[in-house]
Amino acid sequence: MEYRNFGKLDWKVSALGFGTMRFPVIDGDSSKIDEPTAAKMLRYAIDNGVNYVDTAWGYHREQSEPFVGRVLADGYRERVKLATKMPSWLVKEPGDLDKHFNTQLERLQTDYIDCYLLHALNKRYWDNYLSLNIFDWLERKKDEGKIRAVGFSFHDSYEVFEEIINGYDHWDFCQIQYNYVDIEEQAGVKGLKLAADKGLAVVIMEPLRGGGLASPVLPPSVAEVFARSEHPWTHIEWALQWLWDQPEVSVVLSGMSTPEQVEQNVQFASRSGVGKLSDDDRQLISDAHQAMRACSPIPCTKCEYCLPCPQGVRIPSIFAIYNDAMMFNLQAYGQRNYGFSVPKDGRADQCIECGACEALCPQQIEIIESLKVAHKYLTETI
Ligand SMILES: NC(=O)c1ccc[n+]([C@@H]2O[C@H](COP(=O)([O-])OP(=O)(O)OC[C@H]3O[C@@H](n4cnc5c(N)ncnc54)[C@H](OP(=O)(O)O)[C@@H]3O)[C@@H](O)[C@H]2O)c1
Repeated sequence: MEYRNFGKLDWKVSALGFGTMRFPVIDGDSSKIDEPTAAKMLRYAIDNGVNYVDTAWGYHREQSEPFVGRVLADGYRERVKLATKMPSWLVKEPGDLDKHFNTQLERLQTDYIDCYLLHALNKRYWDNYLSLNIFDWLERKKDEGKIRAVGFSFHDSYEVFEEIINGYDHWDFCQIQYNYVDIEEQAGVKGLKLAADKGLAVVIMEPLRGGGLASPVLPPSVAEVFARSEHPWTHIEWALQWLWDQPEVSVVLSGMSTPEQVEQNVQFASRSGVGKLSDDDRQLISDAHQAMRACSPIPCTKCEYCLPCPQGVRIPSIFAIYNDAMMFNLQAYGQRNYGFSVPKDGRADQCIECGACEALCPQQIEIIESLKVAHKYLTETI
């Protein structure tokens, strides 16, 4: 495993971090983690040098934290930097901060959190935290030894990112969505550099765009770009090596869903490093960026923050089917897939436009309109 600096802190963190949002599940139900398999995956990663584990209140419908707590028992807890997050959408009054934090300590079977984040900050959550004097609370927790490093994860525009970074002098780290397709969205490369310049460690989430960049079959225009590669790397390794090449990046979180993915990503990380890419390599990734951008209409990362939809609309599944069909120009295939895998009561035409999903989407997708477009394409006569 390769280890990297963590901002101003005197820590060495593994290039690969374990994101605990994509564990294998039973019957496609994200609240039912396949515990024996997932436990082996997490322990394998730690036994092979991963020392950063990222969880959150909401992952796997609140089952991720308790599960991670059980897996880290028996001595694994001390071997990792454990990260979890305040569920920003549940914080209404000052008392909620201690209430949720103490529940998290219990769920994780620990007395302290190494890396504590304000989850999914956007302008609305940020303003709410400011009104609750969040910094006093964070500093109290640090003084009590219950939080070691303070940070935030982020889903809004670059301008809001800048406001948050400049709004507090004691951030230790931040977590941003960043991959070779999304370099100008949200914090983007500008945000990455700003945070690093200020001495923050930067943790990367959605490095494979939630799995979209790991698709076994690439759109032909993208496959052509990777065919030029002089490295024996898969397109998945390319996406990760590109991140590790950048000095501003500390940990790359991967949400792995099979033991094979863990084994592979550990191997990829073990041959990673800053400055490993040549100028030609960087040009290749830039070309892949252009090609990918040209053919993926809805930037959904299947994070499922939008669920459950009050109407039962299967938003991420519909967008995945639509994107796939559009990417490969296979409308008939998309229509078959839609008919087969999305039950009638979960289809896009069940949307009543309440907007609950849009308020929660970290990608700020116009979900209501996008559902209409997807439904038309996936049902209209060809
Ligand atoms: N704070 C926030 O707001 C926030 C938001 C999102 C994520 N996160 C954190 O960041 C972590 C990383 O984000 P992410 O889970 O979206 O990561 P990601 O790496 O972009 O996507 C994970 C998916 O990529 C695929 N994958 C990973 N390694 C692979 C391999 N070697 N071969 C083939 N496919 C592979 C898997 O897809 P399949 O399952 O389809 O095989 C996996 O589920 C999360 O787990 C979570 O801890 C935080």
